[in-house]
Amino acid sequence: MASLPTISMLGVGSMGGAILSGLLASGIEVQGGIRVTNRSRAKAAPLASDVVTAYALEDDPLGNVRAVDGAGIVILGVKPGMVADLLLSIAPTLAPGTIVISIAAGVTTASMEAIAPQAAVVRAMPNTPAVLGRAVTGLAGGASASAEDIARARTLFETVGTVLQVPENKMDALSTISGSGPAYVFYLVEQLTSTAVDLGFSASEAATMVNQTFLGAAELLVASDVGPAELRRRVTSPHGTTERAIGVLESANLKHLFDRATASALARAKELAT
Ligand SMILES: NC(=O)c1ccc[n+]([C@@H]2O[C@H](COP(=O)([O-])OP(=O)(O)OC[C@H]3O[C@@H](n4cnc5c(N)ncnc54)[C@H](OP(=O)(O)O)[C@@H]3O)[C@@H](O)[C@H]2O)c1
Repeated sequence: MASLPTISMLGVGSMGGAILSGLLASGIEVQGGIRVTNRSRAKAAPLASDVVTAYALEDDPLGNVRAVDGAGIVILGVKPGMVADLLLSIAPTLAPGTIVISIAAGVTTASMEAIAPQAAVVRAMPNTPAVLGRAVTGLAGGASASAEDIARARTLFETVGTVLQVPENKMDALSTISGSGPAYVFYLVEQLTSTAVDLGFSASEAATMVNQTFLGAAELLVASDVGPAELRRRVTSPHGTTERAIGVLESANLKHLFDRATASALARAKELAT
Protein backbone atom coordinates (compact mmCIF):
# COMPACT_ATOMS: atom_id res chain seq x y z
CA MET A 1 0.00 0.00 0.00
CA ALA A 2 1.25 3.53 -0.80
CA SER A 3 2.29 5.77 2.08
CA LEU A 4 1.31 9.39 2.66
CA PRO A 5 3.25 12.39 3.93
CA THR A 6 2.43 14.07 7.25
CA ILE A 7 -1.27 14.96 7.30
CA SER A 8 -2.73 17.95 9.11
CA MET A 9 -6.51 18.07 9.60
CA LEU A 10 -7.86 21.45 10.68
CA GLY A 11 -11.42 21.16 12.00
CA VAL A 12 -12.27 17.59 12.83
CA GLY A 13 -16.02 17.46 13.44
CA SER A 14 -18.60 15.14 11.83
CA MET A 15 -16.94 14.88 8.42
CA GLY A 16 -13.32 15.30 9.47
CA GLY A 17 -13.88 12.76 12.25
CA ALA A 18 -15.30 10.25 9.76
CA ILE A 19 -12.25 10.71 7.50
CA LEU A 20 -9.88 10.37 10.45
CA SER A 21 -11.54 7.12 11.64
CA GLY A 22 -11.47 5.63 8.16
CA LEU A 23 -7.88 6.72 7.59
CA LEU A 24 -6.72 5.17 10.88
CA ALA A 25 -8.66 1.96 10.24
CA SER A 26 -7.13 1.61 6.76
CA GLY A 27 -3.68 1.07 8.29
CA ILE A 28 -2.01 3.21 5.60
CA GLU A 29 1.41 4.52 6.65
CA VAL A 30 1.42 8.27 7.26
CA GLN A 31 5.05 9.38 7.49
CA GLY A 32 5.39 11.87 10.32
CA GLY A 33 1.92 11.10 11.65
CA ILE A 34 -1.38 12.96 11.70
CA ARG A 35 -2.02 16.29 13.43
CA VAL A 36 -5.60 17.40 14.12
CA THR A 37 -7.10 20.60 15.47
CA ASN A 38 -10.42 21.75 16.89
CA ARG A 39 -11.34 24.92 18.74
CA SER A 40 -12.47 23.16 21.90
CA ARG A 41 -10.42 20.89 24.15
CA ALA A 42 -13.49 18.69 24.58
CA LYS A 43 -13.47 17.83 20.87
CA ALA A 44 -9.71 17.78 20.33
CA ALA A 45 -8.50 15.72 23.28
CA PRO A 46 -10.37 12.44 22.51
CA LEU A 47 -8.74 12.33 19.06
CA ALA A 48 -5.19 12.12 20.43
CA SER A 49 -3.36 8.77 20.17
CA ASP A 50 0.12 7.45 19.49
CA VAL A 51 -0.25 8.40 15.81
CA VAL A 52 -2.47 11.48 16.21
CA THR A 53 -1.32 14.75 17.79
CA ALA A 54 -4.34 16.84 18.77
CA TYR A 55 -4.32 20.61 19.25
CA ALA A 56 -7.15 22.55 20.89
CA LEU A 57 -7.12 26.22 19.96
CA GLU A 58 -8.57 27.15 23.36
CA ASP A 59 -5.34 25.83 24.92
CA ASP A 60 -2.99 26.74 22.10
CA PRO A 61 -4.20 29.60 19.89
CA LEU A 62 -1.38 28.81 17.43
CA GLY A 63 -2.46 25.16 17.13
CA ASN A 64 -3.40 25.42 13.46
CA VAL A 65 -0.05 26.96 12.56
CA ARG A 66 1.84 24.30 14.54
CA ALA A 67 -0.23 21.55 12.92
CA VAL A 68 0.55 22.63 9.34
CA ASP A 69 4.24 23.35 9.92
CA GLY A 70 6.06 20.69 7.87
CA ALA A 71 2.86 18.88 6.79
CA GLY A 72 2.68 17.52 3.24
CA ILE A 73 -1.13 17.41 3.12
CA VAL A 74 -3.47 19.84 4.90
CA ILE A 75 -7.20 19.08 5.06
CA LEU A 76 -9.53 21.99 5.83
CA GLY A 77 -12.56 20.51 7.61
CA VAL A 78 -14.24 23.66 8.92
CA LYS A 79 -17.57 25.15 7.82
CA PRO A 80 -17.47 26.77 4.37
CA GLY A 81 -17.73 30.33 5.74
CA MET A 82 -14.60 29.77 7.86
CA VAL A 83 -12.30 28.40 5.16
CA ALA A 84 -10.92 31.75 3.93
CA ASP A 85 -10.00 33.03 7.41
CA LEU A 86 -8.47 29.69 8.37
CA LEU A 87 -6.39 29.58 5.19
CA LEU A 88 -5.27 33.20 5.70
CA SER A 89 -4.05 32.32 9.19
CA ILE A 90 -1.93 29.34 8.04
CA ALA A 91 -0.82 30.56 4.58
CA PRO A 92 2.49 32.07 5.74
CA THR A 93 3.47 28.70 7.27
CA LEU A 94 2.60 26.49 4.28
CA ALA A 95 5.67 25.21 2.45
CA PRO A 96 5.60 25.54 -1.35
CA GLY A 97 3.83 22.55 -2.89
CA THR A 98 1.86 21.62 0.24
CA ILE A 99 -1.34 19.90 -0.87
CA VAL A 100 -4.26 21.80 0.65
CA ILE A 101 -7.55 19.95 0.42
CA SER A 102 -10.81 21.65 1.28
CA ILE A 103 -13.84 19.47 1.99
CA ALA A 104 -16.11 22.51 2.28
CA ALA A 105 -19.23 22.75 0.15
CA GLY A 106 -19.14 25.57 -2.36
CA VAL A 107 -15.66 26.99 -1.71
CA THR A 108 -13.73 27.18 -5.02
CA THR A 109 -10.08 26.28 -5.58
CA ALA A 110 -9.54 29.70 -7.21
CA SER A 111 -10.60 31.48 -4.01
CA MET A 112 -8.14 29.36 -2.00
CA GLU A 113 -5.31 29.74 -4.53
CA ALA A 114 -5.69 33.52 -4.23
CA ILE A 115 -4.97 33.22 -0.48
CA ALA A 116 -2.23 30.56 -0.62
CA PRO A 117 -0.63 30.77 -4.08
CA GLN A 118 2.28 28.49 -3.10
CA ALA A 119 -0.08 25.57 -2.27
CA ALA A 120 -1.42 22.84 -4.53
CA VAL A 121 -5.15 23.18 -3.96
CA VAL A 122 -7.64 20.33 -4.28
CA ARG A 123 -11.34 20.20 -3.51
CA ALA A 124 -12.87 17.04 -2.10
CA MET A 125 -16.47 16.22 -1.31
CA PRO A 126 -16.63 13.05 0.79
CA ASN A 127 -19.59 11.69 2.72
CA THR A 128 -19.96 10.36 6.25
CA PRO A 129 -19.87 6.60 5.44
CA ALA A 130 -16.11 7.36 5.35
CA VAL A 131 -16.18 6.25 8.97
CA LEU A 132 -16.70 2.67 7.68
CA GLY A 133 -14.46 3.00 4.63
CA ARG A 134 -17.62 3.33 2.49
CA ALA A 135 -17.47 6.96 1.39
CA VAL A 136 -17.93 8.28 -2.10
CA THR A 137 -15.57 11.22 -2.51
CA GLY A 138 -15.71 13.65 -5.42
CA LEU A 139 -12.30 15.12 -6.21
CA ALA A 140 -11.27 18.11 -8.33
CA GLY A 141 -7.87 19.71 -8.61
CA GLY A 142 -7.37 23.45 -8.89
CA ALA A 143 -5.09 25.08 -11.47
CA SER A 144 -2.25 24.80 -8.93
CA ALA A 145 -2.57 21.02 -8.47
CA SER A 146 -0.51 18.66 -10.64
CA ALA A 147 -1.65 15.18 -11.66
CA GLU A 148 0.68 13.86 -8.95
CA ASP A 149 -0.95 16.08 -6.29
CA ILE A 150 -4.40 14.85 -7.30
CA ALA A 151 -3.13 11.26 -7.25
CA ARG A 152 -1.93 11.79 -3.66
CA ALA A 153 -5.32 13.18 -2.67
CA ARG A 154 -6.94 10.20 -4.37
CA THR A 155 -4.72 7.80 -2.39
CA LEU A 156 -5.81 9.53 0.82
CA PHE A 157 -9.54 9.41 0.08
CA GLU A 158 -9.36 5.85 -1.28
CA THR A 159 -8.47 4.81 2.27
CA VAL A 160 -12.06 5.77 3.21
CA GLY A 161 -13.94 4.53 0.13
CA THR A 162 -14.47 5.17 -3.56
CA VAL A 163 -13.15 8.27 -5.37
CA LEU A 164 -14.73 9.96 -8.36
CA GLN A 165 -12.65 12.63 -10.08
CA VAL A 166 -14.79 15.30 -11.76
CA PRO A 167 -14.23 18.76 -13.26
CA GLU A 168 -14.54 21.39 -10.56
CA ASN A 169 -17.66 22.87 -12.15
CA LYS A 170 -19.46 19.62 -11.25
CA MET A 171 -18.38 19.53 -7.60
CA ASP A 172 -21.39 21.42 -6.25
CA ALA A 173 -23.77 19.16 -8.17
CA LEU A 174 -21.93 16.08 -6.90
CA SER A 175 -22.25 17.46 -3.40
CA THR A 176 -26.05 17.61 -3.71
CA ILE A 177 -26.13 13.91 -4.65
CA SER A 178 -23.47 12.03 -2.68
CA GLY A 179 -22.26 14.65 -0.16
CA SER A 180 -25.79 15.23 1.17
CA GLY A 181 -27.01 11.80 0.02
CA PRO A 182 -26.64 9.93 3.32
CA ALA A 183 -29.06 12.44 4.86
CA TYR A 184 -31.64 11.67 2.14
CA VAL A 185 -31.31 7.94 2.86
CA PHE A 186 -31.61 8.45 6.63
CA TYR A 187 -34.65 10.66 6.06
CA LEU A 188 -36.33 7.93 3.98
CA VAL A 189 -35.49 5.43 6.74
CA GLU A 190 -36.99 7.74 9.38
CA GLN A 191 -40.24 8.19 7.44
CA LEU A 192 -40.72 4.50 6.65
CA THR A 193 -39.94 3.61 10.28
CA SER A 194 -42.55 6.09 11.44
CA THR A 195 -45.09 4.50 9.10
CA ALA A 196 -44.24 1.05 10.51
CA VAL A 197 -44.82 2.33 14.05
CA ASP A 198 -48.18 3.78 12.96
CA LEU A 199 -49.07 0.30 11.65
CA GLY A 200 -48.67 -1.06 15.21
CA PHE A 201 -45.05 -2.26 15.35
CA SER A 202 -42.80 -1.37 18.28
CA ALA A 203 -39.95 1.08 17.63
CA SER A 204 -37.50 -1.80 17.82
CA GLU A 205 -39.47 -4.01 15.43
CA ALA A 206 -39.89 -1.08 13.02
CA ALA A 207 -36.17 -0.31 13.12
CA THR A 208 -35.29 -3.96 12.44
CA MET A 209 -37.65 -4.16 9.47
CA VAL A 210 -36.62 -0.87 7.89
CA ASN A 211 -32.89 -0.88 8.61
CA GLN A 212 -32.46 -4.46 7.42
CA THR A 213 -34.57 -3.78 4.33
CA PHE A 214 -32.39 -0.81 3.34
CA LEU A 215 -29.24 -2.76 4.07
CA GLY A 216 -30.39 -5.89 2.25
CA ALA A 217 -31.67 -3.95 -0.77
CA ALA A 218 -28.44 -1.92 -1.00
CA GLU A 219 -26.30 -5.06 -0.82
CA LEU A 220 -28.51 -6.78 -3.41
CA LEU A 221 -28.11 -3.77 -5.70
CA VAL A 222 -24.33 -3.79 -5.35
CA ALA A 223 -24.06 -7.56 -5.85
CA SER A 224 -26.49 -7.67 -8.76
CA ASP A 225 -25.70 -7.51 -12.47
CA VAL A 226 -28.99 -5.71 -13.16
CA GLY A 227 -29.95 -2.16 -12.17
CA PRO A 228 -32.43 -0.83 -9.61
CA ALA A 229 -35.36 -0.64 -12.06
CA GLU A 230 -35.13 -4.39 -12.80
CA LEU A 231 -34.66 -5.25 -9.11
CA ARG A 232 -37.74 -3.18 -8.31
CA ARG A 233 -39.69 -4.95 -11.08
CA ARG A 234 -38.82 -8.30 -9.48
CA VAL A 235 -40.50 -7.18 -6.22
CA THR A 236 -43.49 -5.81 -8.10
CA SER A 237 -45.82 -8.60 -9.25
CA PRO A 238 -48.41 -7.43 -11.76
CA HIS A 239 -51.61 -6.41 -9.95
CA GLY A 240 -49.93 -7.17 -6.61
CA THR A 241 -49.60 -5.16 -3.41
CA THR A 242 -46.20 -3.55 -4.15
CA GLU A 243 -47.51 -2.33 -7.51
CA ARG A 244 -50.21 -0.40 -5.68
CA ALA A 245 -47.68 1.15 -3.28
CA ILE A 246 -45.28 2.10 -6.08
CA GLY A 247 -48.21 3.66 -7.96
CA VAL A 248 -48.81 5.98 -5.01
CA LEU A 249 -45.10 6.92 -4.83
CA GLU A 250 -45.06 7.57 -8.59
CA SER A 251 -48.10 9.80 -8.37
CA ALA A 252 -46.23 11.90 -5.78
CA ASN A 253 -43.49 12.40 -8.41
CA LEU A 254 -40.52 11.54 -6.23
CA LYS A 255 -38.11 12.39 -9.09
CA HIS A 256 -39.49 15.94 -9.22
CA LEU A 257 -39.09 16.17 -5.44
CA PHE A 258 -35.42 15.11 -5.69
CA ASP A 259 -34.93 17.62 -8.54
CA ARG A 260 -36.24 20.37 -6.27
CA ALA A 261 -34.28 19.20 -3.21
CA THR A 262 -30.95 19.04 -5.06
CA ALA A 263 -31.61 22.36 -6.84
CA SER A 264 -32.15 23.93 -3.44
CA ALA A 265 -28.88 22.43 -2.13
CA LEU A 266 -27.08 23.67 -5.27
CA ALA A 267 -28.39 27.21 -4.75
CA ARG A 268 -27.08 27.09 -1.18
CA ALA A 269 -23.63 25.96 -2.41
CA LYS A 270 -23.54 29.02 -4.71
CA GLU A 271 -24.44 31.27 -1.75
CA LEU A 272 -21.65 29.70 0.34
CA ALA A 273 -19.14 30.34 -2.45
CA THR A 274 -19.70 34.10 -2.32
N1 LIG B 1 -21.21 16.57 7.42
C1 LIG B 1 -21.14 16.04 6.21
O1 LIG B 1 -21.76 15.02 5.87
C2 LIG B 1 -20.24 16.67 5.16
C3 LIG B 1 -20.06 16.04 3.92
C4 LIG B 1 -19.17 16.59 3.00
C5 LIG B 1 -18.52 17.78 3.29
N2 LIG B 1 -18.75 18.42 4.48
C6 LIG B 1 -18.03 19.67 4.75
O2 LIG B 1 -17.22 19.45 5.87
C7 LIG B 1 -17.05 20.67 6.58
C8 LIG B 1 -17.29 20.44 8.06
O3 LIG B 1 -18.62 19.99 8.22
P1 LIG B 1 -19.02 19.16 9.53
O4 LIG B 1 -20.41 18.70 9.32
O5 LIG B 1 -17.95 18.18 9.84
O6 LIG B 1 -18.99 20.35 10.62
P2 LIG B 1 -18.66 20.25 12.18
O7 LIG B 1 -19.07 18.94 12.74
O8 LIG B 1 -19.17 21.51 12.80
O9 LIG B 1 -17.05 20.30 12.22
C9 LIG B 1 -16.31 21.46 12.08
C10 LIG B 1 -15.16 21.37 13.08
O10 LIG B 1 -14.29 22.49 12.87
C11 LIG B 1 -13.78 22.90 14.11
N3 LIG B 1 -13.32 24.27 13.96
C12 LIG B 1 -14.06 25.40 13.80
N4 LIG B 1 -13.26 26.46 13.62
C13 LIG B 1 -12.00 25.99 13.65
C14 LIG B 1 -10.72 26.59 13.51
N5 LIG B 1 -10.58 27.90 13.30
N6 LIG B 1 -9.63 25.81 13.59
C15 LIG B 1 -9.73 24.48 13.79
N7 LIG B 1 -10.92 23.85 13.93
C16 LIG B 1 -12.02 24.60 13.87
C17 LIG B 1 -14.92 22.70 15.07
O11 LIG B 1 -14.37 22.53 16.36
P3 LIG B 1 -15.19 22.99 17.68
O12 LIG B 1 -16.49 22.27 17.65
O13 LIG B 1 -14.30 22.60 18.81
O14 LIG B 1 -15.40 24.48 17.53
C18 LIG B 1 -15.58 21.41 14.53
O15 LIG B 1 -15.06 20.26 15.17
C19 LIG B 1 -18.00 21.70 5.98
O16 LIG B 1 -17.27 22.62 5.21
C20 LIG B 1 -18.92 20.87 5.11
O17 LIG B 1 -19.30 21.57 3.93
C21 LIG B 1 -19.58 17.88 5.43
